[in-house]
Amino acid sequence: MNASDVVETLTIAHWDGPVPAESQRRAEVGLEAGRVLLFPALAFHPAPDEHALLSPDALDNTRKNISLDPSTGRLGGTALSGAERDRLAAMMSRFAAAATGFLRALLPGYARHLEPARTSFRPTGIDDRPTSPRHDDRRLHVDAFPTRPLHGQRILRLFSNIAPDGAARHWRVGEPFADFAGAFIPRLRPALPGSAPLLAALGLTKGRRSAYDEVMLQLHDAAKRDENYQRRAPQVALELPAGTSWLVFTDLVLHAAVRGHTALEQTFHLPLAAMAEPERAPLRVLERLSGRAPV
Ligand code: SIN
Ligand code: FE
Repeated sequence: MNASDVVETLTIAHWDGPVPAESQRRAEVGLEAGRVLLFPALAFHPAPDEHALLSPDALDNTRKNISLDPSTGRLGGTALSGAERDRLAAMMSRFAAAATGFLRALLPGYARHLEPARTSFRPTGIDDRPTSPRHDDRRLHVDAFPTRPLHGQRILRLFSNIAPDGAARHWRVGEPFADFAGAFIPRLRPALPGSAPLLAALGLTKGRRSAYDEVMLQLHDAAKRDENYQRRAPQVALELPAGTSWLVFTDLVLHAAVRGHTALEQTFHLPLAAMAEPERAPLRVLERLSGRAPV
């Protein structure tokens, strides 16, 4: 594997479109095939009075990210208060709006179906996070949300590296999803009977986990816990410079964030039916591998 297998570079420099049809086509094909779309000229610029906020001091240290919930407007995970808190929320909302407008211009086939989810601000150095293997995003994994069952919907994420000192963010990207899932599926365990309705009733998940959600969570955990896989699996290093943005289906693409600091990220959910080739979705791949429907 080398970087050209896993990255598609698009030279778009504006958040608000329009995007040429040829770039739209490359974007959709590349994403669905499991490539990272890199936009080397798409920079998100914090305003001058926001620069002081770009520091790990903005965190309340209960978690590694500050998040903005678009449905409630609530900011979580920050130690800031008063005017500084409002300023951070404003910067994150501006990023969310720019990211949403950009995706609608870039991916007209998805536009009406994209559901903007959380916006996150990641001010710390990736290296400075002491974590358990399961929470360690420096290990290759596919994303799955423990509290937010998706029932097969896709996770699409846009990242912008806004490091004020110009530090690149370093990722590693792994093998195709089908190869990974094919190797790990035989090791997975069925969920405990009755656990999905119980987790939902206790409010630990937002709605019931489906079999798909259970499998994706187990794949996430199993990959991160497997030291041998982490060392030996095919993977390529990607350098994502400050001032760039990138977009990727993180439920499909094995990824690890190994070094860097100060990034913004916007998550979107997308129904399978909006894809040009839904058979490339993790749900459909898992169905083919297991010979039956996991949802
Ligand atoms: C992740 O989704 O694993 C983290 C990516 C990042 O923070 O760069
Ligand atoms: Fe991840």
